[in-house]
Order: sequence, then structure tokens, then C-alpha cells
Amino acid sequence: MKINLIAIAICIAFATSGCAKTESTDEKVDALIAKMTVQEKAGQLNQYSGFEILTGDIDDSKISDRNQRIKNGLLGSVLNVLGTEDVEQAQRYAVEQTRLGIPLIFAFDVIHGYRTIFPIPLAESASWDLEAIERSARIAAIEASAAGQNWTFAPMVDISHDPRWGRVMEGAGEDPYLGGKIAQARVRGFQGNDLSQPDTIAATAKHFAAYGEVIAGREYNNVDISRRKLWETHLPPFKAALDAGIKTFMNAFNEFEGVPASANTYLIDDILRGQWAFDGVLVSDWDSIGAMVTSGVIEDDAGTAEMALEAGTDIDMESDVFVKYLPELVEQGRVDEALIDKAVKRVLRLKFELGLFDDPYQYIDAEREKALILAPEHREAARDMARKSVVLLKNENQLLPLDKNIKNLAIIGPLGDNQFHMNGFWRGKGQAADVVTLLEGVKAKISNNTVVRYAEGSGLETMDQEKLADAVALAKQSDVVILAVGEDADKTGEAASRTNIELYPAQKALVKAIHATGTPAVMVLMNGRPLAIEWSEANIPSILNGWLLGTEAGNALADVLFGDYNPSGKLTMTVPRKTGQIPIFYNHKRISRPLDDTRYTSQYVDSSNDPLYPFGYGLSYTNFSYSAIKLSTDSINLNESLEASVTVTNSGKRFGEEVVQLYVKDMVGSAVRPVMELKGFEKIALKAGESQEVKFTIDADDLAFYTRDMSFKAEPGDFALMIGPSSISYESVPFKLTVN
Ligand code: NOJ
Repeated sequence: MKINLIAIAICIAFATSGCAKTESTDEKVDALIAKMTVQEKAGQLNQYSGFEILTGDIDDSKISDRNQRIKNGLLGSVLNVLGTEDVEQAQRYAVEQTRLGIPLIFAFDVIHGYRTIFPIPLAESASWDLEAIERSARIAAIEASAAGQNWTFAPMVDISHDPRWGRVMEGAGEDPYLGGKIAQARVRGFQGNDLSQPDTIAATAKHFAAYGEVIAGREYNNVDISRRKLWETHLPPFKAALDAGIKTFMNAFNEFEGVPASANTYLIDDILRGQWAFDGVLVSDWDSIGAMVTSGVIEDDAGTAEMALEAGTDIDMESDVFVKYLPELVEQGRVDEALIDKAVKRVLRLKFELGLFDDPYQYIDAEREKALILAPEHREAARDMARKSVVLLKNENQLLPLDKNIKNLAIIGPLGDNQFHMNGFWRGKGQAADVVTLLEGVKAKISNNTVVRYAEGSGLETMDQEKLADAVALAKQSDVVILAVGEDADKTGEAASRTNIELYPAQKALVKAIHATGTPAVMVLMNGRPLAIEWSEANIPSILNGWLLGTEAGNALADVLFGDYNPSGKLTMTVPRKTGQIPIFYNHKRISRPLDDTRYTSQYVDSSNDPLYPFGYGLSYTNFSYSAIKLSTDSINLNESLEASVTVTNSGKRFGEEVVQLYVKDMVGSAVRPVMELKGFEKIALKAGESQEVKFTIDADDLAFYTRDMSFKAEPGDFALMIGPSSISYESVPFKLTVN
């Protein structure tokens, strides 16, 4: 029988009131805080990685020291302690061996699945399917919580315009509106309706803020942007996550206006805690507090603790400075204990909300763990999410979908039969052995009469003349080649910036050699970022952006390649022609000398300005036609709204899904306005020949922006409303916003 020591402790604390049922969480938390020493309080604000807590192979002295700290109540949460067995061991230290028995929170980067790995988040965003994205996060939470986890460091809601930055794989692309919607879907999925349930976990909006702006796309680099850019581009998805009830935020590694994010009073105190009234937990990024010494804004570790706490950061991940220095800082009168209490209160409140005080072991259920991890229905959902994430970039002469009765099919390329890379970066507890490769998926799909052969052709980055020759020979004997090329999973994600986002030279050479054989080729790109494949776009007849799709990658790709699923993904990040075009994004501001055919306009002398593939772009095996836009009125005042509608018809021969996109352009603004901004979208499913009316509503709130004086409001005047299948293909109609 589990004895609920905490509940008893709390009841004792409330003995005079008879342990009344009406005690609010805040009262319970306050009662507990009243019993804590400063050192224990600092402990609650301390977070270590479990790699060094429970496993014996790193540094023995550290391990026992850290274990001892759990037992002394000097640790409030851990990350990277995984699986019910290890979680239970650590939780027992905390609950049974510390003076107050306060349970630990167990955190992990559950970014796109725990063991059943879903597509990387950038891929999922290309589905524009909020329900599917929510389901993906839900399943990740179900599996993670079944393995004892209570908290994920996701979603990363950083907007980025720079595919050199490896972490774009972890985000939802370049658009703040879409990014906000996706952030909300993921928060709903992770947190569910009731955080105290054992199958929900707290979510984290990270990295607060503007981390997507690292200079030159280089990880951990500085950021230097205006407040305007911060508010227009970077804050909206954070605010959206907050509106969806997200429980925690994480600091960023970067500075903003000269002050590291972990101690940035403008970001934390003014915006997050002040204007947005967020009273949940703010956790630092890994050692981002201690690293302020390296940044040179403070001389010593104690000072970093003081700065971060005072700004409003609650939990110190891995710097070890809160637990070490806060007690002495209080003693020296440098830190007010009341400030520590505030942070502790937020941490304890989260523990209550997670249900950990009711039952610290409720997430620890080995039976559940066994039954739920990699459950068949989770794999099925991962396959569905994966095929929805694929973007058809090119399909000359309808080479795709392929015929299942094709005689000789070749799969060529270093990723054609690879399990490991399909799981992408941030693969949780995903195992390569669980993954269905492209070759396996295709073999399971085609008829018995088809001969499928595989040749690696090259390494991911290394040329091999022998492999190349074998691949060329195979291509020559085949009716169609599927080229599986792209990126090493570990060269995407954290600490994986690239200076060149083209295919690696070895793979380029392979693609060219296969093309030279004359055998029709379908390219399946397996990537963690947009890749600049200008040569392939010009020469390879069909191209699928197949991302790194997770456990069911091969099955999902086979579904798309052979037409059992009609691709419906649309890009959420612009694909440049050349690395040198970065940053490139659809919703850039209007410029004083826009490109025309004269020299002294904004352009490159060695490349087109146009992207290779624009935001919102993606093809289907069917065709969709759009009717003219109907507006309910072409003039509204600040209190009115207008309805814009189009009828979309599936004018092709097969069932398909279409993402109908609504953009708005403000013709004149007191501050320079974007050329267009996404303001709505709807994903619809249509049988061949079927039509559907899609309606959008626009009001003054949708037209509001940060005006010249940075107040957020709509300015009356002329606008254009655009509806269409992508950011470069639409009909545009004018409307007016008038004063009341
Ligand atoms: C550093 C990363 O920046 C952050 O996103 C992640 O959650 C932490 N490490 C913990 O692993």
C-alpha cells in the first residue's frame, strides 16, 4: 500500500483547521513553505540532469554527491531520469528520505514522441493539421507519462528565418500566426484537460525569447534585434501558448538588448510576469544562469544566481548556483527571502497541479509503461502524422504516384534503408530498431511481381566510387529510381548549424549520376531543415520533401509514393535557392526599392530573389480550383467584421486535401508593414469533383499591428485580402477599414 506522506504532512500543517477540503492549493503551498529552511527552498529551485544522478558511468563522486543532495532535499526536479524503475528510485529518495518528503518533478525533452517517434516538429507543422498535431503531442504525453515523466521541454515556439540554424527542425516554421496555432495544439496535446491526470504532462514554451534570431544561424550565438521585431515576430507564439494555459516557460541562451535572457528583466519581469501576468514556472536553459559569467555580465557564480532570481527565473537547470548560493545571498542581505518564496511557490504549485502531492507515484506504473509504450495505435497515429507531413514539391508528368506493379524499382541513396536517421534529432527514447525504413515500407507496399533493389550510392557525406558505380548500374536496370537523400539526424537539431544548406557534395554527385542514366527518378528528401536543391528542382522530375518522419517513416513514405495517401503538406518555411539568400521569408516588410527590371532595386546580381519553394506551397495528386472571392462587405469599421468566402473544387480525379490560406496586406501603415501576413487557414478534404465553401471572418483585431509608437491597434485605411493555395498563388480583393 502506498502511504501518502505528503498528504499527511499537509494535513498536519492544517490540523487546526481540521484538514478542511476547501484549502486552496495556494494555502497548502504557503503552509509548506512556512516549514522550509532557506536551503530547502533553494533546493526546490534546483534541477539536475539524471545522467549524473542514477547512472554510475560518469563520475562517481558527482553521482553520490548529487544523490546525497536529493536525500537532503536539495533538488526539486530532474531531467533525463527515464523509465518507471529509475523514476521510482529517485522519487523514493525525495519522498521517503527527505525531511519534508516533497516529490520531485521528472522532466524530459519529449519533442516529437517518447518511444513512438513522430515526424520532427517542422515536418508536422507542414501538415497544417492542428488536430493531428495535438494528437501527436497527446500520444507523446501518454507514453512519456507512462514512463514516469511529468514535464516536457516542448513546444519550442521560436520563429526562425534561418535554416542554417539546426533547431529549425524543432519549431513550426517562419510564421508567427501559424506558429501560435501549432503551439496551442501542442500545449493541449501535452497538458490535456486536467494536468493532475497521470497521462498528462506540463508543457514548456521555449526559448524565451528571440532565440530563433541567433546571428548567422549559429547555435548559442548572440541575438541583436529591435523590440519591434521581438513583438512582431517572436512573442506571438509565446503569448498564444500562454493563452492555451501552458504551465512553464524556458529562458533562452541568448542575450536581448545586452542582457542574457535568463536575467533579462524586460523579457521576464516586464513582459512575461508583468504585462502577461504569467505566474507559472520559468526554468533556465541548461546552465544558462551560470553561463552569464562566461558572457561577462557578472563576475561570479553567486552574482548569476542573484541576477536570475531577481529577474524572475524560478528553476536553475544544471548551473548549480541557486542551491549553492541563494542561502548565503539571503544571509548577506543581497537577496530577499520573499523573492525565493515566490519562486518556490510557483514550483510547488506545479507539483500540486501535477497531482504529485496527492500521489507522488501516480506516474509510476510499470504495467502502464509496458502496455502503452510503442502501442500499435500509437504507431498508426505516427504513420498518419508522417504522411500528412510530406510535401510534394514537384511532379512532372505525374510521375507520382508510382504504380504498385512496376517491374523493376530501385531505391538509391544513403538514407534509403536507414533506421537511425529517420528518428531525427531529439528522438526521446526512440530506438532505431523500431523504425520502418523506406526500403521496408516500399517492399511491404508493392505487388509480388515487382523487384525492389537497393543501393547506397554514397555515404551521407563521403563519396565512394564503388558504391556510386553499383548505384548507377542498378539505376540503368530499373524502370524508376527512388532517390533517398538528405541529412544526418545529428547534423540537425541542437548544436547543428550549417553554413551550406545544399545537399552534401557526395549526395549531389550521386543525384547527378543517377539522373545521367536517364531512368526516371523520384527524389525523397529526408531533411531536418529546408534544403537548397536548385539543381534537383531543375532536373529531377518528382520531388517529395520527406523530412525525418520517425518510427513509421518508411510506411508513410510508401503510402505517399504509391498513392494510398495523396500528399497534402504545405511548406511552413521558405526554401531558398541558395544559402546566401538566408534570411528569406514570405512576410518580409515592404521595401523602398522593390525588385523590378532595373539595376538599382533590391536584388542579387548572381541569383533570383525568389525562393526555390515559397511558404504555403505544396502540390497534390489532384487539382483544386478556387472560385472568385466573395466579400460580405468591402468596408468595415473598427467594431465590425467581414466575411470572405471562396468555393474550392477538387477538379482532379482523386480524393485530396487542400490547405486554403488567407492573407492580408495593409496598404499604408504608420510603421512599415509586411507585404502580406497569414491571418487564417483551413484544411479541407474533397472527393474528386466535390466542392466546398470556405469562410473566413476578419475584424479590426486581425488587422492590428505595432504602430509607430508601438501601440497595438488597427489603423483605418486600405487593405488587400488574399485567398489561395500558397503565399504566391492567390486572388486579391481590396477592402477598407474605416473609423467608427
Ligand atoms: C538545451 C536546449 O536548448 C533546451 O531546449 C533543452 O530543453 C535543454 N537543453 C534540456 O535538454
